[in-house]
Amino acid sequence: MLQSAKTVIHNFNAGPSILPKEVFEEASRAILDFNNTGLSILEIGHRTSLFQDVMDEARSLTKELMNLGVDHEVLFLHGGATTQFMQVPMNLLDENEIASYTDTGVWAAKAIKEAKLFGHVDIVCSGKESNYRSLPKQISATATSKYLHITTNNTIYGTQWQDLSIFYETGIPLVADMSSDILSRQIDFSKFSLIYGGAQKNVGAAGVNLVVVNKSILGKINRVIPTIMDYRNHIEAGSLLNTPPVFAVYVCMLTLRWLKKLGGVAAIEARNNAKTRLFYETLDSLPMFKGLVAKEDRSKMNAVFAIDDPQLEKEFLELCKGEGMIGVKGHRLSGGFRISMYNALPIESVKALSDLMKYFASRRG
Ligand SMILES: Cc1ncc(COP(=O)(O)O)c(C=O)c1O
Repeated sequence: MLQSAKTVIHNFNAGPSILPKEVFEEASRAILDFNNTGLSILEIGHRTSLFQDVMDEARSLTKELMNLGVDHEVLFLHGGATTQFMQVPMNLLDENEIASYTDTGVWAAKAIKEAKLFGHVDIVCSGKESNYRSLPKQISATATSKYLHITTNNTIYGTQWQDLSIFYETGIPLVADMSSDILSRQIDFSKFSLIYGGAQKNVGAAGVNLVVVNKSILGKINRVIPTIMDYRNHIEAGSLLNTPPVFAVYVCMLTLRWLKKLGGVAAIEARNNAKTRLFYETLDSLPMFKGLVAKEDRSKMNAVFAIDDPQLEKEFLELCKGEGMIGVKGHRLSGGFRISMYNALPIESVKALSDLMKYFASRRG
């Protein structure tokens, strides 16, 4: 929420999205003068101790916030989560091996497509029958799978795995695309062999990818991996194999600092729960609006909903715009509306939207 001279903006964008105000302020100061050096963060060398400190702090804060031990390494890599769709199987899956994948929407499908370029893919469950509006309740994973890939939060359809125990129980090494819910709720992150996510929702600015990997799953394939694609090279180089996206990593570091100061993942989860409770209670209390997702699978990050009379959609969006609410229009695949309630979104924005929905519904009488 940015307070300008005229309007309060409520930013419900799906990503890149709202970041904490303190982060915007600190980052803008650093563009002019980074840590009183007289230099901009944009002009310092990535091999200087100045940047080394930023990278070290970003990596160690991630470990601390995720409560990870020595087995896990944190990397900040280029290419967005989409690159991970390919980099994961390239590093973990041999041609003759099987990897298990959950099919829960657009992003999961993209991950599956890339994995098929490297080995065999076993689809352990699919939400296709429900048009991805609910999550499968059972999975059947091949025990010999090299890994099991899940998308913890489906940004487009607005579903989120609330209970991850069915995956833990398989005993198969877990790989998760957490792009849209990373560090938003308490999860036993140590149970995952690999976690990845584009930073541009909960962690920082676009242009960098957060990858957390348990070293023990690496080095178990026969393929020759191009240097820049091999996680082991990035680990060895301390995530400084080549020029990293310096500014994007810096913004991640600031956002992670903010999260720690706030009280860490437990504190942000409590805040996020309060926001979602408020929003979904409003949604369920107004017959005019309807949620498009099975209640038990509703995402706490992206809420997807519609209005009973599609003719009113445009009018509602106009009203939102007039009130400084952006990012409310639904994704073209799910239609209706989608609001993203990432970590940095204040509850005041959710309250403002809830009040607007109530007002809109009341006009019908
Ligand atoms: C769950 C999920 N995975 C992957 C991606 C792709 O991320 P990127 O654009 O960083 O490649 C997104 C983007 O929104 C996403 O929501």
